[in-house]
Amino acid sequence: MTAILVKNLNKYYDNGFKALSNINLEIKKGEIFALLGPNGAGKSTLINIICGINKKKDGEISVFGHDIEKNYKMARSKIGLVPQEIATDSFEKVIDTLKFSRGLFNKKNSTEYLEKVLKSLELFKKRNQQIRTLSGGMKRRVMIAKAMSHEPNILFLDEPTAGVDVELRQSLWKNLYDLKKNGVTIFLTTHYIEEAERLADRVGIIHQGEILMVEKKDKILEKLGDKRVIITINKTSKNLKNILNKFNYQKKKNKLIFSLDLKNNRNSVSDLFKDLIKNSISFYDVEIKKNNLEEIFLKLIDQ
Ligand SMILES: Nc1ncnc2c1ncn2[C@@H]1O[C@H](COP(=O)(O)OP(=O)(O)O)[C@@H](O)[C@H]1O
Ligand SMILES: [Mg+2]
Repeated sequence: MTAILVKNLNKYYDNGFKALSNINLEIKKGEIFALLGPNGAGKSTLINIICGINKKKDGEISVFGHDIEKNYKMARSKIGLVPQEIATDSFEKVIDTLKFSRGLFNKKNSTEYLEKVLKSLELFKKRNQQIRTLSGGMKRRVMIAKAMSHEPNILFLDEPTAGVDVELRQSLWKNLYDLKKNGVTIFLTTHYIEEAERLADRVGIIHQGEILMVEKKDKILEKLGDKRVIITINKTSKNLKNILNKFNYQKKKNKLIFSLDLKNNRNSVSDLFKDLIKNSISFYDVEIKKNNLEEIFLKLIDQ
């Protein structure tokens, strides 16, 4: 089932700047989708248009089948938005701010549902505290709880962990993962490659207002990720001449380094091992090197 469908979307700001260029995107129900791109790529612009905060120029967008303009109310009711900036100094109690947000969407009061949300975000014990008395991490989770208060089917998070320390980042990832397990579709933007790599089912790469690629995360890594086996031996090994004419290698001080592409060249990896064993040459080190999303990303935007 399709949660979000974006077709041929373009966005110009009032000063004529083209921020998004022919965006086509489908988000499936139940997935975690990460939109990855550097600052200024157009991530917030896209999220804000889908959530009805910014206006598009042309193209079509629907949320669970509801057109975001013709059927604004229905579309908006399906969406929870956690904006990048968090309002933090509220004297309001946690539970009251959730009740208020829920009320804005004309939803019937449900303490039971709100308490469930608070529990899943590890905020239940803090429900009667004023927001200003909470730690930074808790405030962020309150923003997520607030966005969840009207029982949306899809949660948008704009750079949820920008400027957050490592520990807090990991606990937020766990919270998002738990929401996914409860059936919530998640669309997040990030400029942290690690975040996309750890959390997302699919990753879209956006650069200068254009989506360069959308793929399952594993597939991106498999398709573009270079995987090499690096075998290092001592230059002083006996019987070296029996193998050196068969394989490419680099010399480095007293070592020889064989770097074999695992994807296209599986045979030569096992051939090298066989020859090393046959000639009683022991290796000094074996390492498997994989490109991560970061290297792929740099390659993509370099083109
Ligand atoms: N109100 C605006 N008027 C003109 N240009 C804008 C406006 N808002 C954003 N932009 C520009 O649009 C581009 C995309 O911005 P944004 O969507 O905020 O990027 P991201 O969220 O990926 O960092 C940037 O070049 C930004 O300067
Ligand atoms: Mg942004």
